[in-house]
Amino acid sequence: MGGESLPRIRDFADVDYNPFTAARELGGEGAVTDVHPEFHRLRAESPVFDGDLRVHFGLAPDLTTKHLRQVAVLGHEVGKAILNDTDNWSNSVYVNSIGVFFGRSITTMDNPEHAIYRRMFQQSFGPGMIKQWKDGMIPRVIDAVIDTFEERGHAELVSEFTLNFPFHFIHELLDLPPVDRQVFHRLAFGQLLVTFDKARGDEAIANLQHYLEMVVANRRAAPREDDLMSMIANAEIDGEPVPDSVVFGFFRQLMNAAGDTSYNGFSTVLAGLLMHPDQLETLRQDRSLIPKAIEEGLRWNPPVMLLSRTPKQPLEVCGVKIEPGDHVGVVLPALNRDPAMFDRPDEFDISRGTRGHSAFGLGPHICLGQHLARAEMEIALSLLLDRFPKLRADDAYPAPEVGGFMLRGPASLRVRFD
Ligand code: HEM
Repeated sequence: MGGESLPRIRDFADVDYNPFTAARELGGEGAVTDVHPEFHRLRAESPVFDGDLRVHFGLAPDLTTKHLRQVAVLGHEVGKAILNDTDNWSNSVYVNSIGVFFGRSITTMDNPEHAIYRRMFQQSFGPGMIKQWKDGMIPRVIDAVIDTFEERGHAELVSEFTLNFPFHFIHELLDLPPVDRQVFHRLAFGQLLVTFDKARGDEAIANLQHYLEMVVANRRAAPREDDLMSMIANAEIDGEPVPDSVVFGFFRQLMNAAGDTSYNGFSTVLAGLLMHPDQLETLRQDRSLIPKAIEEGLRWNPPVMLLSRTPKQPLEVCGVKIEPGDHVGVVLPALNRDPAMFDRPDEFDISRGTRGHSAFGLGPHICLGQHLARAEMEIALSLLLDRFPKLRADDAYPAPEVGGFMLRGPASLRVRFD
């Protein structure tokens, strides 16, 4: 972070506010744990549920989409068809939710503009970059986080580890001042709060946007070499600058993808292994299984609950009539446990094939950061096993449990390694 002059980032006015736990507490999300028996029951009736799943599970409706009619897709085949069919299905319904969290993110776009901007952003996350990060920055950042609790012999891996390393990596990648990192993390995560608590969510969005505008102005005035933020802030397409709304939308989504999906995804992989000590032992004996263990954790309990789509014209899906503007949620945890797709779908089994799981989405909007996320998780798991040969669940505490609704993962992972 070479000599950038910036005012400090502005935190929530209530500096004691905890956006990370608020997401679980508000709207009762943390109380939703094993959604799968109910998904199996509903899917057996029909792969398409005509109603609001949140309300069905006793939760308050999502403030950003409650004015829309709600339909949920629980079957893998139907969900996959919708996510791949951009002739008939649009992402525009995300304007209500992601469009508010992050602004003009590529997730809210349809073709042709989606393809144009996605191609541009994807260049910064290609195989060459991932290899470079794998050999340097990713292990360095992860090792530094492990250093903070290594001596103790025990830890709570969600608040001390998984919540931190993916965010620290992105923060460092953008080369932002370390002194602002903690507040930046709080705000990035806090953007999602508009779903339950509009005032807090708006505060996070306004403070983050204000800060990003100052950084982007700096990197335009004095672009840095080999700097992702300078590259994106100054990018052009066919000789025209990329609109500010798209630049800021990307940065806000990027900070958040690192701050929520990645941490919940890796927490879930660890929960699966800690809950199945025999499979953790198998992994210790054979590190080549690490990628399979990660895919299985993501299949078993994907962190993202719903992908939103709306039809471009009136359609009927499995007997349910759907109009443009209706909110159709493709329910990834239900797709990933569809018995038509995976045998023994409720079992966590790192030896199984997971091809076709949908934790990163499917189709043209499939996660742009999936290769980075996989690289981070593989290195994190490998370093944990290297540094803690006796890693195990701490049986003085309840076993880890995956829960939540909008984002799912274990609230805590108490471990010992002494
Ligand atoms: C385990 C970690 C992650 C999971 C489970 C995950 C999940 C997802 C899912 C399900 C989508 C599809 C949304 C849709 O089709 O409606 C998506 C899109 C996206 N993800 Fe991730 N993500 C993860 C990590 C990351 C990371 C580290 C980045 C950072 C580069 C990232 C950036 C994005 C972007 C920019 C999109 C939008 C792609 C588009 O609309 O074309 N994600 N992610």
